[in-house]
Amino acid sequence: MSRDLADAPPVLVGESAAIREIRRKIEKLGRSRCPVLLLGETGTGKEVVARLIHAASGQGNFVPIDCSAMNPALLESELFGHVKGAFTGAASRKIGLLELAHGGTAFFDEIGELPLEMQVKLLRVLQDRRIRPVGSLEWRQADFRIIAATNRDLAAEVERGSFRRDLYYRLNVVTLRLPPLRDRREDIPALISHFLARYGGDRRLSPELEQAMLSYPWPGNVRELENCIERLVALNSGPILHLADLPTGLMNHWYGRASQVAAAAAAASCAGPTAAPVLSLEEIEKRAIVDALAFTQGDHVKAARLLGIGRTTLYRKIRQYGIAFQRPPRVPSVEGR
Ligand SMILES: Nc1ncnc2c1ncn2[C@@H]1O[C@H](COP(=O)(O)OP(=O)(O)O)[C@@H](O)[C@H]1O
Ligand SMILES: [Mg+2]
Repeated sequence: MSRDLADAPPVLVGESAAIREIRRKIEKLGRSRCPVLLLGETGTGKEVVARLIHAASGQGNFVPIDCSAMNPALLESELFGHVKGAFTGAASRKIGLLELAHGGTAFFDEIGELPLEMQVKLLRVLQDRRIRPVGSLEWRQADFRIIAATNRDLAAEVERGSFRRDLYYRLNVVTLRLPPLRDRREDIPALISHFLARYGGDRRLSPELEQAMLSYPWPGNVRELENCIERLVALNSGPILHLADLPTGLMNHWYGRASQVAAAAAAASCAGPTAAPVLSLEEIEKRAIVDALAFTQGDHVKAARLLGIGRTTLYRKIRQYGIAFQRPPRVPSVEGR
């Protein structure tokens, strides 16, 4: 908790129309106390937006409440607090999260996971602006702004009966929808620079790596991109980050795409009268080996694995085709990171 209170407000990077519009709304919402519902796939930046709205309001604590991570049996005492001896194990008095949020913002993350009986209680708190700790007879003030987030289709959950309609209306006063990263690809370069500055100092991406990152659909959205850069920085000590250290999912995507491009080029070359001369199988094999060695920067073990052949076979073919591959000189490692 103290970490959340002390953290500087995060930044919302991106110049896509959607992100610019959200930035405008954040500023307006900072001036009001109305509930906000944030919708979007996981990793799209809902929590960033919640924190920025809170920071723009400049009032009280920001209290994150992750409904998906909470033990349902303890939820009530977590939210409302409890008095000493309220139940077995309640050794001392505990202040509830909603009391901490008084005067500030309670961020209900993954609100779709909130059990139905807690939904009723939360609605009551939002109406009465007070709570009663478990085991206590006294009421305490809990007047906070609520920001809720979910990656679920909450309206559909209401129709299905798994989310209360009255609470949904109460939360759904202003809705912001964070689009997935694949629908705002123009934000990817700025996000890459942002995370490189955060994790990698002055490191840069190799051109192939940049191409791979720009063409990847990022199903885990900004979080996946951030993790990817953190990983690349951790695995590379030199100033240039390389494709070979991408996580497998991204690597497979890049290879799948490269082979589609090659197949399309091959199909095109067979189709028209201006078709390029057909390559012999030997030539294709030779090129595949050269490409694999270039891609892995001369790492024979990785190259053999990528080509789906054994290392001895690879050595034999390298000799057979007279392929000379020079490992690029090692880049000196950057000190002090
Ligand atoms: N537009 C953005 N600019 C900078 N960082 C972002 C942006 N969107 C998301 N992030 C970062 O990506 C990670 C996931 O964002 P988060 O807000 O937790 O997503 P969600 O709550 O939608 O799952 C966080 O580390 C966050 O700082
Ligand atoms: Mg989240």
